Amino acid sequence: MFSTIVVAVMCVALLAGAAFAHGHVKQQKNGILMVAFGTSVPEARVAIDDMVQAAQKAFPGTEVRLSFTSNIIRRKIKKEQGITIDTPLIALSKMQDEGFTNVVVQPTHIMPGEEYSELAEVVHSLKTISGKYGFDKLILGKPLLYTTDDYKALVGIMERAYGKYTKSGGAVVVMGHGTSHPSNSTYSQLQLTFDRYAPRFVVGTVEGFPDLTDVQNKLSGMKVSHVTLVPAMIVAGDHARNDMSGPDDDSWISILRGAGYKTDAVIEGLGQLDEIPLLMVQHLKASVKEAAFK
Ligand code: CO
Repeated sequence: MFSTIVVAVMCVALLAGAAFAHGHVKQQKNGILMVAFGTSVPEARVAIDDMVQAAQKAFPGTEVRLSFTSNIIRRKIKKEQGITIDTPLIALSKMQDEGFTNVVVQPTHIMPGEEYSELAEVVHSLKTISGKYGFDKLILGKPLLYTTDDYKALVGIMERAYGKYTKSGGAVVVMGHGTSHPSNSTYSQLQLTFDRYAPRFVVGTVEGFPDLTDVQNKLSGMKVSHVTLVPAMIVAGDHARNDMSGPDDDSWISILRGAGYKTDAVIEGLGQLDEIPLLMVQHLKASVKEAAFK
């Protein structure tokens, strides 16, 4: 018993000595790292900038930085546009080196898919570092669609933005990206939420399930005269401009027109709708609380 106390006292003394020996108290420095997939379409970049600005507006005293998860996009814009955007790993390393102690990593991604999982691996691995190369707090924010309430919020936002196209026999076809990652089930949950709150919205994906055939099957059971296509992607990039609404025969707009519908398209990323950055900021606020910003 006595020896345990002696050892404990000695340990405390040693630790205190070590702290004094270093002679400084680390200053808290807060930061937000926004993470987007990225885009190589310059006129589509506005959607990402809107998200960053919303974060900066919500936390005016905190530095907000931007990184891209897509290496293909990062390399392309560096080569073609001379723009350098770091990966989350590089961006966080720089922030750590510059003395940031409390950092929130906030994705602009819609769902917890492949990009989000890979981002989570980066954040989790950096969290295991203590000592002078570590952060005091490193918090990973949630993607746009995480809880059931998030789905309801997104459906509400899209209904307010595009519900006008469903009047007098219209339907809105929402084009998501789609993925081979298990999070592809996001789109089925999104459709079910639309079914309940905005039933003239039909969800399809470019690269996953449901696809355009499912969209057409649903439309044919709905008595639709007019179809408006909108992307369910943060950025209205290549998929929105080509696969969704491009002039080629195999674009969704061409195929639906060929099937007899009057069609048009809105080339606008979700990030450009005023309410989407605000939904992201809600998630950001929760993470900032966790990161104990002072
Ligand atoms: Co794609």
